[in-house]
Amino acid sequence: MTNDEKWFEKKIDRREFLKKAGIGGAGLALGVSGASAFFTNKVKEEKNFADGDEEISFYGSHQAGITTPMQKNVYFVVLDLHSTDRAEVIQMFKNWTDYSSKLVDGELVKKDGSNALLPPSDTGETVGLNPYRLTLTFGVSISFLKKMGLEKKRPQAFREFPPFPKEQLQDKYTGGDIVIQACADDEQVAFHAVRNLVRKARNTVTMKWSQSGFAAIGDRLATPRNLFGFKDGTANVTKEKDFEQVVWCDSNDWMRDGSYMAVRRIQMFLETWDRTNLQEQENTFGRYKDSGAPFGKKHEFDEVELELLPVDSHVRLAKEVNKPIYRRSYSYSDGIDERTGQFDSGLLFLSFQKDPDSFVKVLTNLGAQDKMNEYVTHIGSGLFACFAGIKKGEYIGQKLFE
Ligand code: HEM
Repeated sequence: MTNDEKWFEKKIDRREFLKKAGIGGAGLALGVSGASAFFTNKVKEEKNFADGDEEISFYGSHQAGITTPMQKNVYFVVLDLHSTDRAEVIQMFKNWTDYSSKLVDGELVKKDGSNALLPPSDTGETVGLNPYRLTLTFGVSISFLKKMGLEKKRPQAFREFPPFPKEQLQDKYTGGDIVIQACADDEQVAFHAVRNLVRKARNTVTMKWSQSGFAAIGDRLATPRNLFGFKDGTANVTKEKDFEQVVWCDSNDWMRDGSYMAVRRIQMFLETWDRTNLQEQENTFGRYKDSGAPFGKKHEFDEVELELLPVDSHVRLAKEVNKPIYRRSYSYSDGIDERTGQFDSGLLFLSFQKDPDSFVKVLTNLGAQDKMNEYVTHIGSGLFACFAGIKKGEYIGQKLFE
């Protein structure tokens, strides 16, 4: 069989899938039952990752998109809340729950009748596309709690970040009340999800800032490289029991089984980096560029021996604090910086941890010493409490409002 024939056969398969899924016609027949999928946001194993027909359930004890293996794309948006009306805000989260559960299954957000004089409920750009492992993750900031008069419910651990050395935060990438993180193996699928969620809540929220990003996920098990060309994410834990230690909150409040998301929009000066010799690049991290192995070792996952790494190297400073965080960052590239004529690009740094203080301790230790500071500037910031997961019949964030 020629490659073209193979491609055509795949295409037919996909059309069969879409027919079954009822996209463009009836609703999705392959829905995931909330009850049976409660304990994990289960991936439908029998479906094909490469074709994007694998779905990840919206329901589970934890929200998907946190410890879910990274997808290729993120569309990330921070929203300002313009209502203090509890019923209205609850309704918004109910609507988002309804829409999200459909979006992650590859369905339209709503099926319309035949009235052509109304705008379609779903904006339509994913018709004919598979779900591409879409996950939607929701969180709120401290300012959200204040606006809603819910300050009393603020867990002790949930505190604003202190100022960090050398940061140059810009208003346009900082603050905001609600975060929605859409990750998918297709950019259009991720964008469509956020577009439709925001559209549904137009009377209640406005967009403060957004960022699209990408990660080089070829083989799902390989660590993606960042724009400095280094493997990024090596030290992350991978096992469920470690997620309990590092990621999932166990406090006795509405954040139990949720996680705190730290966000930094970090500009990376690629032109400066590209003029730096390989040895200096490797000294910056204390890892070898090609293999990702720590200094003095051969393989990527070999144990880091701190004393073999330069004292100002990023990995040594980040590790010696001994406060593990779970990183899930995406690179971004936003055209050209008008002032310098250089790439406007960097890292949408995202980390999840059960206690934001772990992130604060790590970044404080990186502080003014990190050799990487010569090549990066933090220009955006955010801290969001990402709710626990829900069962079918519940709505996202419900425990906060109970
Ligand atoms: C543009 C910004 C950044 C880049 C390019 C970057 C890159 C890297 C690289 C290449 C590694 C080594 C491989 C790995 O374990 O993933 C690493 C490790 C790490 N980074 Fe970053 N990083 C950045 C920002 C940050 C920030 C803001 C934090 C947290 C405040 C952070 C925390 C860590 C931690 C905790 C490790 C693992 C250390 C260990 O236990 O071995 N990084 N980073």
